[in-house]
Amino acid sequence: MLRLYHRDKNVQRLQCKVQNMAEPQHIPLEDQRSYSIEETVERSRNFYQEIKRRRTVRDFSDRPIPREVIENCILAAGTAPNGANLQPWHFSVVENPDVKTAIRKAAEQEEEAFYNGKAPQAWLDALAPLGTDSSKPFLEIAPFLIVIFSKSHEQRDDGSTVKNYYANESTGIATGFLIAALHDAGLATLTHTPSPMKFLNKILHRPSHERPFVLLVVGYPTEDAVVPAISKKSLEEISDFID
Ligand SMILES: Cc1cc2nc3c(=O)[nH]c(=O)nc-3n(C[C@H](O)[C@H](O)[C@H](O)COP(=O)(O)O)c2cc1C
Repeated sequence: MLRLYHRDKNVQRLQCKVQNMAEPQHIPLEDQRSYSIEETVERSRNFYQEIKRRRTVRDFSDRPIPREVIENCILAAGTAPNGANLQPWHFSVVENPDVKTAIRKAAEQEEEAFYNGKAPQAWLDALAPLGTDSSKPFLEIAPFLIVIFSKSHEQRDDGSTVKNYYANESTGIATGFLIAALHDAGLATLTHTPSPMKFLNKILHRPSHERPFVLLVVGYPTEDAVVPAISKKSLEEISDFID
């Protein structure tokens, strides 16, 4: 049953009426789970052990994936926290070989320009340990490409617009959920950002106010896949505790 929770419901009702807004409605929090201290520690440890096995993969096989897996992972991404619950994202899922070829062609064109003059030397230096270049065969080989768009606003049918708040932060968090969900299902991903990515609007027929955020390559790694020998910063390097 829907219930209203507020210290002074009358004031809130009046505010809503004056501002011509719907009254907020609340339901009991029923799905949250909590555990014993020992279990909580163990679960946090286990999650870290699991998520640290995720690596960005660039050697993909064409082994198929049921579409339902992708659908479930996108549903998981769609549960992410986001500004004012406006859910300012769109996921374009590409399975079609011709569309993949068009994306590869356009991405490699941008990447060739990037690696051969457009990118500042400092950027190329930062990328050097990864051994990446302008060749992107995985865009045709992997069974799924998911292009995530961030929507700065919604366009109504009458031409008016409604602003989305924290669109990029929200889309970033949802993308993180998506990558974690795909990893949990045993799949590998590559977070790809050929720069600029506006060609994706044209190929995928998305309106111009939607910003291509990330091109996620999804699939299984090849048997002999390799990844760069890189490490993560320590807890001390990335955090401090103020107690
Ligand atoms: C926003 C973002 C953009 C990225 N763009 C690319 C890219 O265009 N090409 C690529 O090969 N890797 C790309 N990566 C992957 C990173 O290089 C990779 O996450 C990083 O080297 C750490 O490696 P790991 O994911 O295996 O831990 C990107 C990652 C992020 C988060």
